[in-house]
Amino acid sequence: MTKLTVTAAKAIKVGNAKHELVVVPLFTNQAVAGQSAAVDAAAGGVLQRAIDMGEAEAKLGKVTSMIGTESVARIVAVGCGDREKFGRDAQLAVTGAIGRSLAASKAKAATIVTDNVSDDADSAASFLEFLARDVAMGCYHYTATVGSPKPGPVLTKLSVAVGDMLSAAKAKAALHNGLAIGQGANVTRELVNLPGNVCTPSYLAKEARTLGRKYDALSVSVLDEKKMESLGMGSLLSVGNGSDEPSKLIVIKYQGGNAKDAPYCLVGKGITFDTGGISLKPAKGMESMKFDMGGAGSVFGVMQAVAELNLKINVIGVVAAAENMPSGCATKPGDVVTSMSGKTIEILNTDAEGRLVLCDALTYVERFKPAEVVDIATLTGAIIVALGHEATGLFANDDSLAEALTAAGQASGDEAWRLPINKRYDKQLNTKYADMQNIGTGSAGSITAACFLARFTENYKWAHLDVAGTAFQSMQKGATGRPVPLLVEYLRQK
Ligand code: BES
Ligand code: MN
Ligand code: ZN
Repeated sequence: MTKLTVTAAKAIKVGNAKHELVVVPLFTNQAVAGQSAAVDAAAGGVLQRAIDMGEAEAKLGKVTSMIGTESVARIVAVGCGDREKFGRDAQLAVTGAIGRSLAASKAKAATIVTDNVSDDADSAASFLEFLARDVAMGCYHYTATVGSPKPGPVLTKLSVAVGDMLSAAKAKAALHNGLAIGQGANVTRELVNLPGNVCTPSYLAKEARTLGRKYDALSVSVLDEKKMESLGMGSLLSVGNGSDEPSKLIVIKYQGGNAKDAPYCLVGKGITFDTGGISLKPAKGMESMKFDMGGAGSVFGVMQAVAELNLKINVIGVVAAAENMPSGCATKPGDVVTSMSGKTIEILNTDAEGRLVLCDALTYVERFKPAEVVDIATLTGAIIVALGHEATGLFANDDSLAEALTAAGQASGDEAWRLPINKRYDKQLNTKYADMQNIGTGSAGSITAACFLARFTENYKWAHLDVAGTAFQSMQKGATGRPVPLLVEYLRQK
């Protein structure tokens, strides 16, 4: 992947300067003016001609590429719709389109003229943040396991001409924030896209140590199976029983606040491959279960972004990593295991394994006396039935935490939608043979899964993000980097 640098300037220099590519926003019923007009003049007036001919349009998200002159080789006009309606959703439509079009272009350097996107400094800052984030994410290209990779995006330098919209310092900060979030999301995507034979629990542990070496504020420790056994993590360990790959509990600590400040804990489901175990999944589509460590991957991306942003809080990321395989040693339906909390669990379906690794990790984080705990998991297929691939499922035992996460999702364009948990659903988990069973008896599978987790999180404020529909959509589309933008926004508000 190419390294991207992002800088802000008040104005784009045209005349002697040579530009490979300049992006110009177009608003409905607004003449090309200011810096855009200067760029168009240097490009020989192609933009105005394209507008006059109806070729370039201000329709939201519409991208028109034009060849200019030696001075401005390419102009890319991006439709922004009505300037009065240029709120968050419209901004995101535009920054997404710019990200995709710069990634597809052959330009190594690009300048974006933004002097006309808003009169309000805060809204301008949010636009710049989305811009840096979406360009960074647009330039992500998977090559890790491809022998002869197809050429990917070549953009390495993004300049933004911000005019008088906001101060240079504010512009720089917004771009830096966006870049940190985009690069964090790309870290997540890379880990999540890797195949199960590369990205094993041990591989995740190694990557965590590498991340820890990269940032002074991060420290990493890894609990092996022996250590987990001594802590009584019988539920987590039961998932890896059928696998030759040893399970790992990975702890990544970020200290940006005072040592005694209660930390925010993130707990990620890290099933590096989910065959279903003895309750084996059907062959068709099973390959997509390499994405079953999407929650864990998001913990890595968030921890990097938090370190990069120097947030003044403490954050602890915990990854419960295991491989779910059938074998002669595998856990069987009907087996009863004892979790770290002391509660016993009857495993009626070995494919409901995410909750089994998470419950012990959720008990483990009690020792940190957390301010709040959020777990992230590709937990249930049922959440895709409920919310599709648009919103992440959100569950919580605390209303203000649920509201904070919902708001962070809205603000970042990485939406989450709350669903209920209560005793009417929870009672589906009761069984004769243990304190609970690991699957419900009826419908609402995402809710009963959350109710299962809620039984282990009574001692702190907790939320659960079911990202089965949002961390990835299909093998071909690959990992999305969600919910990194949501989580970074949530932590930034602390
Ligand atoms: N990893 C799956 C959930 C999943 C499904 C993630 C589709 C992403 C896309 C999880 O471990 C699982 O198998 N859940 C079962 C639970 C059931 C056995 C109660 C499911 O959703 O079918
Ligand atoms: Mn499963
Ligand atoms: Zn799973």
